[in-house]
Amino acid sequence: MAREPIQRIDNNHELRRQLLSHCRLTYGEVWEDRVCRHRVGCLDASKKEDILRLMGDEKTSLAVQDPPYNIVVGNANTTNLPKTSVKDYIQWSRIWVANTCSMLRDGSSLYVWLGADQNYGFQPLADFMIMMRQFPELKARSFITMRNQRGYGTQKNWMAVRQELLYYIKGEPKFNVDAEYTAIPKILRGYYKKVNGRMTENLERSKSENIRAGNVWVDIQQVFYRMEENVPGCYAQKPLKAVERIVQASSDAGDLVVDFFAHSGTTLLACERLKRCCFTCDIDPIFAEIAIRRLEHCRKTGKTGWQFKSPFRDAAIDLDITCGSDEQIMTKQDRSQKSLFGYSRIP
Ligand SMILES: C[S@@+](CC[C@H](N)C(=O)[O-])C[C@H]1O[C@@H](n2cnc3c(N)ncnc32)[C@H](O)[C@@H]1O
Repeated sequence: MAREPIQRIDNNHELRRQLLSHCRLTYGEVWEDRVCRHRVGCLDASKKEDILRLMGDEKTSLAVQDPPYNIVVGNANTTNLPKTSVKDYIQWSRIWVANTCSMLRDGSSLYVWLGADQNYGFQPLADFMIMMRQFPELKARSFITMRNQRGYGTQKNWMAVRQELLYYIKGEPKFNVDAEYTAIPKILRGYYKKVNGRMTENLERSKSENIRAGNVWVDIQQVFYRMEENVPGCYAQKPLKAVERIVQASSDAGDLVVDFFAHSGTTLLACERLKRCCFTCDIDPIFAEIAIRRLEHCRKTGKTGWQFKSPFRDAAIDLDITCGSDEQIMTKQDRSQKSLFGYSRIP
């Protein structure tokens, strides 16, 4: 039987034991970057004192949060991605959202990645949206859906290819509309209108030849092992392009951006590339370490990830693909309609 193409970190005790000895942070510690002032903490997003340790006296104009989604990923209920009751999940969410809110400046944006489990009444998305009404300082601004190229689901049902992103604002934040333009050319003509006495059609009037992403993003590839940005072992990695779109739209160069659920460090990397400063943390020292390593790896090599090579190669810890040929992997993918990893990257 073919093994999973990469080893999953969060439910592999022996692998965790080996990796932990190569992590520079233990719980409660914060690493500070000398070059761009980024910070990476090994901290709990739901503990006020931890978030204060990360933030110091600073406040942010953009928070990009990607918590666990309260679903069992790949049949493994782990500490990193736990499934609990909806009530407990929402209670926990209320705490980290309150911690985030207390760090937001007036005129700031909050984006939250979330999922809806169709097997359990679309929890927690629906419950989370209602819970968010308890924060009167936050105004719902947009409900974005990103199309995942690869989804998981069943051949007897609609395939799940969606990823939800909620966008809230506090006050009147900036929005850099240029970040909204995709690389997809406009093809539709029509919408004629008279301008200065001359009949024009929409392409003549528009600011760009390309369409805007709007609130349904169809131009972003879900991360898989052939992409440079892939970080082996990080099963919930978001595409860099998606996070860069958020960062460009809702912050300016030099701004401070926060992300309390770092995992592979996508927000950190987006900030580095776009000249923002990022304060991020993860409760797990291994993911805090991977986030730091990804930043260092990018500075050293210009690469956005390790593709299918281990981020812990220097420590001779192999997280590489161990499965057979591409063909075997593709067959498995086609058969199960799961991701190449046998479980979805999007929890
Ligand atoms: C969905 S992943 C984030 C993915 C990330 N956006 C990326 O692109 O790699 C969620 C992460 O939150 C971390 N986490 C879970 N509970 C946490 C908590 N209470 N505080 C901080 N991090 C937590 C997990 O260890 C996991 O790495």
